[in-house]
Amino acid sequence: MTALEPRMQHFDTAPLAIATPAADRLRSWPVRRRPLLREIADMFAVTLNRALDAMPWAHALHRRALARLEYTEVAFSVGARPDLDGLRIAFLTDLHVGSFLDEDTLLDVCEDVVRRGPDLICLGGDLVNSREEELDLLDRPLRALRAPLGVYAVPGNHDHRWIADMGDWQDFLERRGVQVLANRGRRVTRGSSGFWLCGVDDLTDGRPDLRRALHGRSAGEPTLLLAHQPDHFPEAAEQGVDLVLSGHTHGGQVGLMGWTPITHTRHGLVRGDFRRAESRLYVSRGVGATVLPFRVGAAPEIPIIELVAER
Ligand SMILES: [Fe+2]
Repeated sequence: MTALEPRMQHFDTAPLAIATPAADRLRSWPVRRRPLLREIADMFAVTLNRALDAMPWAHALHRRALARLEYTEVAFSVGARPDLDGLRIAFLTDLHVGSFLDEDTLLDVCEDVVRRGPDLICLGGDLVNSREEELDLLDRPLRALRAPLGVYAVPGNHDHRWIADMGDWQDFLERRGVQVLANRGRRVTRGSSGFWLCGVDDLTDGRPDLRRALHGRSAGEPTLLLAHQPDHFPEAAEQGVDLVLSGHTHGGQVGLMGWTPITHTRHGLVRGDFRRAESRLYVSRGVGATVLPFRVGAAPEIPIIELVAER
């Protein structure tokens, strides 16, 4: 390649074969026994979601919600590592594709993300909503997601709940160039500097292992953890993770004057920035919607994390 040729190799849409060691394959686990009331509530929610999904007006409502998609700038301090300064990470979570969000609309969102030129793209789980076949709707959107330093993902509770074999979920993503960080991590480098990027399996429906995810990082190395559910934060802070990126809550999805009746977090980590000791958590409101096709007071969001080095 001459110096004048455009550098298009990172945007090749051919499937990528990524060899994952057998020990790192995601597994599906027997569904844990849930309290009867929770089981009934879940069944009601899925039935309502599927009924609304058949209504054209519900899709129109969701398109209106998505028209308010916000890109939020989040700064991540990485110390004296000038080569990392300005590196940008796009964080997409809670797509819930198939539930009001169709393949073409998601493809538009992904292409818009790529046009913004992030160096790295991360997916925070709940890629599907409530059917195994929704995975196929991710084919073109995932192939469109390309970034010079790679595309990474962790699973969410909906992925575990509706995909019969999570090894298939992992294969599907990896064949489309998305590397799955479920209880593992790797060093992302630019120039002579690097940081530790890692992820954990889902808190309630998977088997998260933070210590495994952190295995291999160097002392004092900036660490970024992808964890679908924000309630990982207290443990991550204890382990010295610098920044946790989560979703799962949809920012409440439906809120009234700051009050969000359904949050799915025990620690009140509904949306935005949180700090504990030297650690920080950012909870994204996510892209899609579940059960109801609209959002109130919780516009969809894609955070763009910008690394900031000391000068
Ligand atoms: Fe979730």
